[in-house]
Amino acid sequence: MATPQVLIVGGGMITHDQILPAVYAMQRRGEVGEVWVCAQHGRTVRNLSAASSIVRAFPGQSFRAFPDPADGEQPQPELFRSVIAHLPPRQIVIVALPDQLHFKAVMTALENDQHVICVKPLVLTAQESVVIEREAYKRGLFCGVEYHKRFDDRAHKARRYYRDGMFGEFKLGTARLMEKWYYRNSNFQNWFTKENSDAFTYIGCHYVDLVHFITGLLPVAVSSYGIVDKFPNGNDGYLWCDTRVRWNNGAALNLQTSLSYPNEGAGPNTQGMTLYCSGSGEGAMIDHSDQYRGLSYSFGRKPAGEGATFYAEPSPDYFQYNDLGGPGLEPVGYGVRSVEFLVRTVKQLDAEAATLEARQAVLKQIDATGVVATPANSRYNELVVEAGRTSILNGGREVEIGKI
Ligand SMILES: NC(=O)c1ccc[n+]([C@@H]2O[C@H](COP(=O)([O-])OP(=O)(O)OC[C@H]3O[C@@H](n4cnc5c(N)ncnc54)[C@H](O)[C@@H]3O)[C@@H](O)[C@H]2O)c1
Repeated sequence: MATPQVLIVGGGMITHDQILPAVYAMQRRGEVGEVWVCAQHGRTVRNLSAASSIVRAFPGQSFRAFPDPADGEQPQPELFRSVIAHLPPRQIVIVALPDQLHFKAVMTALENDQHVICVKPLVLTAQESVVIEREAYKRGLFCGVEYHKRFDDRAHKARRYYRDGMFGEFKLGTARLMEKWYYRNSNFQNWFTKENSDAFTYIGCHYVDLVHFITGLLPVAVSSYGIVDKFPNGNDGYLWCDTRVRWNNGAALNLQTSLSYPNEGAGPNTQGMTLYCSGSGEGAMIDHSDQYRGLSYSFGRKPAGEGATFYAEPSPDYFQYNDLGGPGLEPVGYGVRSVEFLVRTVKQLDAEAATLEARQAVLKQIDATGVVATPANSRYNELVVEAGRTSILNGGREVEIGKI
């Protein structure tokens, strides 16, 4: 599999903003082969293939679209199964579907002998992640979870210093991630509903994962209080969440998440994290502004697009297109590095290990190294999501999570 074929299942926001550009950049460098995208509606793949930023960045590149872009309005929710079945074995399926559909898509890919990369959260229950882990291991396949904050250089800096003892022990922390209000107008209103998800499940997992990534601590209990609000289509969602996560050293992280950052607020969202630590007797602190990264612009005219503002605080670190002289534009940022790292991990696995036993040994090593999130080494995320869902449905009472 020198140049694996890549199938992206789901053609929504994350595919447009991060996954497809990262995969196209690898294709342009000859690192991956043919790219396929399978969505539920023809109009989704039609819009994606015509998206102006992507067309400009990747002239001459295209993907094979499922369903037929001419098929417009007829939903084909099970089409991904037959598309996956048409791939030669041991290619790469990237799952970028709404959270509650990840399990069936990931399992379909594994059962068809495909490596898998899944956007976070992998699945919504720990038991499902166990099933995925076993299926992948049995077949010597890679399954990785795309937590791109792990590829933000600042996470690595904090992780290295923390593990060198420079901060002592994490005790109390606060984190926030508020997406813009206009998200309520998007396709989210069809799936981000009370029964399926909530703001903590959707975006809180980033900071839970990051605290573990930096400190190595494991969560032991969650209390998540959610406020129900209406989407424009009348559906109810937990669009505001206040969550406390307790850790196995007694530390507590308070995490607020929502779809509430004002449309006129600067930057695409507001987010950041402060961890107060014991230090060496005088205290220590890690403080990350993950929204304001030192840039502020006042534009002469308002840029196009929902949530765009005259005054802006853009982040150059997650994703942006650079003009390096062509052809097209080069996507850069930790969102791109994350996808690249996961794809290269798959390629390395297949290049290094010829037998099932050898592949399983490499998979164990990937789990143990802990740079990429896998079902085995990041199950605390599913346990937290599961406990958080139980808590939110019970008015925010604390739920202890099982033994990991
Ligand atoms: N920061 C992050 O890491 C981040 C950011 C955004 C989204 N995500 C994750 O990515 C996933 C998708 O989010 P999004 O923002 O792209 O959502 P979205 O609603 O914009 O897109 C979802 C896409 O899935 C498609 N889809 C739904 N059912 C399908 C089916 N049965 N078969 C094929 N396609 C189907 C929809 O048509 C849509 O194109 C979610 O799990 C979300 O949590 C992660």
